[in-house]
Amino acid sequence: MNIDSREKSDFFGNDRPKIILDNEESFMKLMSHYECAMMEVETKLKVLNNEFSFLYERNPIETIKSRLKKPSSIIEKLKRKGFPVSVESIEENLFDIAGIRVICSFPEDIYATAELLTQQDDIHVIERKDYILHPKANGYRSLHLILEVPIFLSTGKKFVKVEVQFRTIAMDFWASLDHKLKYKKNLDNADYIAQKLKECADIISSMDKKMQEIRSMIDSRNYPAKLLENVESEWDDDYDDVYDDGDTGLYYEYRYGSDDGMSI
Ligand code: GTP
Ligand code: MG
Repeated sequence: MNIDSREKSDFFGNDRPKIILDNEESFMKLMSHYECAMMEVETKLKVLNNEFSFLYERNPIETIKSRLKKPSSIIEKLKRKGFPVSVESIEENLFDIAGIRVICSFPEDIYATAELLTQQDDIHVIERKDYILHPKANGYRSLHLILEVPIFLSTGKKFVKVEVQFRTIAMDFWASLDHKLKYKKNLDNADYIAQKLKECADIISSMDKKMQEIRSMIDSRNYPAKLLENVESEWDDDYDDVYDDGDTGLYYEYRYGSDDGMSI
C-alpha cells in the first residue's frame, strides 16, 4: 500500500486529530518517507533471507511484519512524553513511527540477521537493546534496533529512522499474549497472572535454546562465529518500564519458508 496513491481519508479513517489536519500535507509527506524507509529495510531483510537459503539451505526469517504508527497513537505518545505536538517534533522525538517485526526460527538467526543488516555501510545504528540477553523483569525477550536508513528523494538523500524488533516464533507467541493481557483492565488476579506469564517466558527461553541445539545437531552448517559475537554483548540498564504497542492498525505481513510454499 502506498500513502501517496491512496485516498487520504482511507489512511486517516476516523483517526484525524486536529493538529495533524492543520499540517496534513507535511504530515502525509513525512509518513510516506517512513513508509519508504520500511520498504528499504524489508528489502534488505528479504535479500539476506534469500542469500541464506543458498549458503545454509534454510531461511532464517519466518515472517516480517511492518506497521506505520497510527496518527492518534503518534499524538498520544508525543503528549505522554511531553514533546511538542507538531510534524517536526514527530521526526525529532519519535523513533518508532516505522516499525518492523522480524520473526526468526532460532535465536542465532536473530543475531546473524541483525549483524548482517547493521554491518551494511548505508545503515546507521542509533540504538540497540538486547532484551534476549537481558530480558525485562516480566520476561519479555526481543532484540530491538533503531536504525537510520537512507531514502532517495527527488530533493536528495534523507536518513529516516525505523525500529526493528527481532524475535523467535516462541518469543513472539509470548509477547502477543502479554500484549493482549496488558489491555485487560481490573484483573483481580493480576499478580498471579504476571507470575504465570514470567514462568512461561522462562520455559520459552529454555525451549528456544533446546531447539537451537537440536537444529545444530541435525545441520552442521552453523553461522560463522563472527556473526554471533554480539550474543555476548553487554546491556545492563533496567528496561522494566511502560511500553506502547497499540499500533496494530496498518500491518503488512510477509511469510517465508517452505511451510507455505511461498518464496520471496
Ligand atoms: P518508547 O519510548 O515507548 O519506545 O519506550 P522504549 O524505547 O523504552 O521501549 P522499548 O524499546 O523497551 O519497547 C518498545 C516496544 O517493544 C513496544 O512498543 C512493544 O512493541 C515492545 N515491548 C517492550 N516491552 C514489552 C513487553 O513487556 N511486552 C510486550 N508484549 N511488548 C513489549
Ligand atoms: Mg522505543
